[in-house]
Amino acid sequence: MELPFAESWKIKMIEPIRKSTRSEREQWLKSATYNMFKLKAEQVYIDLITDSGTGAMSDRQWAAMMLGDESYAGASSYYKMKDIITQITGFEYVLPTHQGRAAENVLFSCLVKEGDICPGNSHFDTTKGHIESRKAIALDCTIDEAKETQLEIPFKGNVDIKKLEDTLKKYGDKIPFIIITITNNTAGGQPVSMKNLQDTRMIANKYAKKVIFDSARFAENAYFIKTREKGYKNKTIKEICDEMFSYADAMTMSAKKDAIVNMGGFFATNLQEWYDAAKIKGIAFEGYITYGGMNGRDMNALAIGLDENTEFDNLETRIKQVEYLGSKLDEYEIPYQRPVGGHAIFVDALKVLTHVPKEQFPAQTLAVELYLEAGIRGCEIGYLLADRDPVTRKNRFDGLDLLRLAIPRRVYTNNHMNVIAAALKNIYDRRESITKGMKIKWEAELLRHFTIELERVK
Ligand code: F0G
Repeated sequence: MELPFAESWKIKMIEPIRKSTRSEREQWLKSATYNMFKLKAEQVYIDLITDSGTGAMSDRQWAAMMLGDESYAGASSYYKMKDIITQITGFEYVLPTHQGRAAENVLFSCLVKEGDICPGNSHFDTTKGHIESRKAIALDCTIDEAKETQLEIPFKGNVDIKKLEDTLKKYGDKIPFIIITITNNTAGGQPVSMKNLQDTRMIANKYAKKVIFDSARFAENAYFIKTREKGYKNKTIKEICDEMFSYADAMTMSAKKDAIVNMGGFFATNLQEWYDAAKIKGIAFEGYITYGGMNGRDMNALAIGLDENTEFDNLETRIKQVEYLGSKLDEYEIPYQRPVGGHAIFVDALKVLTHVPKEQFPAQTLAVELYLEAGIRGCEIGYLLADRDPVTRKNRFDGLDLLRLAIPRRVYTNNHMNVIAAALKNIYDRRESITKGMKIKWEAELLRHFTIELERVK
């Protein structure tokens, strides 16, 4: 008999979680104005709001924390971190920042000006926020197939090279860089193929443009290249990473994802000019260039985390768990963005809550239902997060409206996945009785979903 798959680690420390009653949850959610970010974590049973900074560190990472060098300048922890980043990415200049959006802030402060166009595949919300707040435009050139949630293609996060080339022709000098997000979070944690990275590089060269990778989940992207793309089966994850980054000029990194730390990030490049400009901003916003908002111990943990999570077994354990949840949803015929993404399942709310009008935010409504059903906290990646058009300030209802169930790394077991799937099934079974959604009571100017106040449509 073939042995079944099992995790490549065992558990050394646990953290209790608590169930609650439906009436408690009704009360808590109302007080949180139906905004999942405003719930207290202790009011949540299974927390799928993000896979960012929520992973479980390994014994090696915790051990490395004790050896942190907390020197203000030139700490050994910085050099340990820098060395592993250089080994994996080939980038020699490494500027630490306190998290991913800080790397975006530091870099875009140097590169983005009013009226610029920044094309790429789907920009993550903070990336888009940092571009739009500088009165520039984040132009999404993802392949159209990414919008068809039921279509199974291996690299749904890809850039549409024709759209990209048309953009480069049309906007020329207004384009400071191309930015590719690996994996493409907004499109469903969908990977970008090596071929697509190569093609992007070629087009960039043709128009003399630089390429940045938003690399939060680059290791998961490498896993998909290894398991889905021809010619990579026998390569190691580290070899694949080396090739991926050879097509980029620079990277921004939220280490809270694929480096499996609770906080941290960096900017890395081989362009001295970009590094020299960024380090001035880094000092002003983040801290001196060898710590940039991070403790020495955190840089040590980051170094180990990056090394561990660019190994196949760790990634396989992770992605197989997300796939397991996907297989349960298949069993219950619940529609989600196919195939299963790297870090999350994105439930297609428009196909689940077919009786809730788009203007009443179906994905947010589904998030509310799931929390009330079982204390599970997901995150809307849809019309609230899409925010208003930067020019007309109107809501945008043209894209996907998804409920993201992000799976923290090395945290929950497949029994938790069973609970999530069952809770969704219960909602799916009564979906036609859900006819009313949410409306906005108050919203902020920028990144509104974090602080938004909602109420139920009566
Ligand atoms: N880029 C991508 C692709 C991201 O997913 C994130 C964060 C960032 C940049 C910003 O990094 O949080 O360290 O400042 N994504 C989290 C999420 C918050 O839930 O997907 P950060």
